[in-house]
Amino acid sequence: MEINKVMVIGAGQMGSGIAQVCAMAGFEVILQDLKDEFLDRGFSGIRKNLQRQADKEKITAAEMEETIGRLERSLSIESAREADLIIEAAVENMEIKKTIFAKLDELAQPHAILATNTSSLPITEIAAATDRPGKVIGMHFMNPVPVMKLVEIIRGLATEDSVYEAVEQMTHSLKKVPVEVNDFPGFVSNRILMPMINEAIFTLYEGVASREAIDEVMKLGMNHPMGPLTLADFIGLDTCLYIMETLHEGFGDDKYRPCPLLRKYVKAGWLGKKSGRGFYEYA
Ligand code: CAA
Repeated sequence: MEINKVMVIGAGQMGSGIAQVCAMAGFEVILQDLKDEFLDRGFSGIRKNLQRQADKEKITAAEMEETIGRLERSLSIESAREADLIIEAAVENMEIKKTIFAKLDELAQPHAILATNTSSLPITEIAAATDRPGKVIGMHFMNPVPVMKLVEIIRGLATEDSVYEAVEQMTHSLKKVPVEVNDFPGFVSNRILMPMINEAIFTLYEGVASREAIDEVMKLGMNHPMGPLTLADFIGLDTCLYIMETLHEGFGDDKYRPCPLLRKYVKAGWLGKKSGRGFYEYA
């Protein structure tokens, strides 16, 4: 199963990062979103990232231009007709993902693999929106995509072995490390990470310590690169809440109950770094 052309759906932080690493690895990439302004923002982020690497002499100016040359922009999902692998990185909403996958199934070539970058939603349910569940798979990249080595590869109930193998090989060619996991809420990464973040928020909510103290304990005590509240702001508090809700609903266990303070912040529009305010304030 040869992959030459990749389409990435969604030019947000994750989608543009995925498009960047695919283009850097030599794949032809179509980055698609619904509005020009979303694509402008995505492409400007990619350019800034590549420029930073060129300034540090990690890539040459020619490599930077070649990478940009491999990236095409599209405002239409119809571009799916051209791709061998489609990686969906749209919003975390099951109904939207099902609509996208049903459309992709209609448009994409029969051999094309349909992957989703969902951080916690069931792959098997997304696959059921298509007539090719064997070709649907989870490819969960970590943020920031250009830096983080892991890609969690999630098999749905029907995912074909050849599809898993093609995606695993593709991940190696992106210079990332694939780790195989099965399809359960939050997979492995967010099943472990999010309850830790949620517990950090409970710790703040109950007045056990200040935001700075909580982050400092985890940074200096556990050698985490970021404290959990800073990391929550970085991921987005709406995303954190959504993942906790998926875990809570999926397992029905009170240990996954989202902290009321997290709900309150999201209701206030305090979504973290992207909105200028979360547990911390950003200029
Ligand atoms: N995009 C691209 N490159 C970036 C970047 C970004 N957004 N942020 C930092 N970098 C690069 C820097 O350019 C720098 O590169 P060089 O080594 O080539 O110079 C390198 O990363 C280190 O950056 P800094 O020195 O500025 O800062 P740092 O050492 O504090 O590292 C960090 C920044 C890599 C983000 C680090 O703080 C970290 O690893 N944080 C934790 C990230 C994490 O846990 N991610 C997973 C989130 S959960 C997730 O993604 C799953 C989900 O579904 C929610």
